[in-house]
Amino acid sequence: MTLETGSAKTIDRGRIAELTEAEQAKFRERTHASAERYERALKVMPGGVPSSFQQNDPWPTYIERGEGSRVWDVDGNEYTDFHNGFGVMCIGHANPEVGEAVKARVDMGTHFAAPTDGSIEVAEELTRRFGLPQWRFTNSGTESTMDAVHLARGATGRDMILKIEGSYHGHHDAVMVSVYPELGELGDRDDPRSVPYGAGYPRALTDLTRAVPFNDADALESALDQLEGKVAGLIMEPAMMNINIIPPVDGYLERVRELTSKHGVKLIFDEVKTGATISYGGATKRFGVEPDLITLAKAVCGGYPGGAIGMTDDLARLVADGEIHQYGTFNGNPLVMAAAEAALTQVLTEDAYPKLEETNERLKAACQDIIDRYGLPAYTEGMGAKGCVIFSAEPLREYRDYLTKVDAELATLAWLYHMNHRIFMTPGVEEEWTLSIAHSEDDVQRYLNAFETFAKDVTGA
Ligand SMILES: Cc1ncc(COP(=O)(O)O)c(C=O)c1O
Repeated sequence: MTLETGSAKTIDRGRIAELTEAEQAKFRERTHASAERYERALKVMPGGVPSSFQQNDPWPTYIERGEGSRVWDVDGNEYTDFHNGFGVMCIGHANPEVGEAVKARVDMGTHFAAPTDGSIEVAEELTRRFGLPQWRFTNSGTESTMDAVHLARGATGRDMILKIEGSYHGHHDAVMVSVYPELGELGDRDDPRSVPYGAGYPRALTDLTRAVPFNDADALESALDQLEGKVAGLIMEPAMMNINIIPPVDGYLERVRELTSKHGVKLIFDEVKTGATISYGGATKRFGVEPDLITLAKAVCGGYPGGAIGMTDDLARLVADGEIHQYGTFNGNPLVMAAAEAALTQVLTEDAYPKLEETNERLKAACQDIIDRYGLPAYTEGMGAKGCVIFSAEPLREYRDYLTKVDAELATLAWLYHMNHRIFMTPGVEEEWTLSIAHSEDDVQRYLNAFETFAKDVTGA
């Protein structure tokens, strides 16, 4: 067997198509019960799923249960879970500490729409971790970013929002703009078009949101100069996590902070994905740049539907005075707070992060070794509990790179290999893996075996 090392091979497209067909057939064969559930679900849910993110070709994998690092689908297939509920289940499935806390809370009543001790405990813990002094709660990442946008607008009296091209921040009007625009829709890089992500968003609202490229502080500076006095806030993921993973280049976040402060623009770090996964204090602490607002959800609430917004004292005063309305019947729900408190203070404690990082680095390094040995046009990226193989021969710095350089066919085939080799992996070319504290050496090895089989077959080695 001869392998090219260190240089990317051109992969035969016909071979990818053949393998894809074969793996799809295997996938269908293994998931008859999911297919049945799909047929039934189609009659009562659009696309057979509760949220469009769960749709998949040929059908979604319907899950029965999970424990630790493993999940079982309705066909009885057991998988090691690297999907982890879109990056939520860093605590592992059916985590006993979180389970106990929630069970105890169930017996004491689950909802009052009045504050309980849990909300104080969680807000104190978030202050410790992220540094911002004041917190409010929400029910999802979408609500967190929606409230953050309202806060930025309310505080500045301005209407426009800047976001990063190719970023997803939930599904409300202000941020469903330039999420995954197609090549022909992009416009100039210096002046990208505001492209609505689907139907249902009034044009007048879409036009209030402008996109700028990631990792380019000069482009941000010109946008801010051009829109002087009009921009309320910049919302961004400090490390992009919805077009695989793109870390910030050195010095970028520091300049973003300087520029937004100079122009009186509120800086919103959307840490829905990075929050409790890439360090004890999320991206804010990992990169050492403090925003005006932090939005959280996913992993912070231990597998329950909740989110939070962190803010400066000045912004908090506007909320406390009732100038800006931050509302919600279920905000700070006792059950969610019990789960969040246990997840943050008993499971995802400060010492959990070096372990997650170490497992992640081992997995990344071993994937990179496979990439190099088989000459795959790919590289690995990641931090904390998050990582991925990016099917591009060159590193990505921004969305336009992702759109033009990533080999979507290879990425889709890799997903099929993973699923057929008992690795439950996030569907979609743009996604990544999330590790939990339950992931063992065996789980990592299982991933590597699947990935190496894929590498071998696709390169014909
Ligand atoms: C960065 C980011 N922000 C916000 C959201 C929206 O969160 P939710 O799905 O809880 O509404 C997501 C969801 O994937 C996200 O990745």
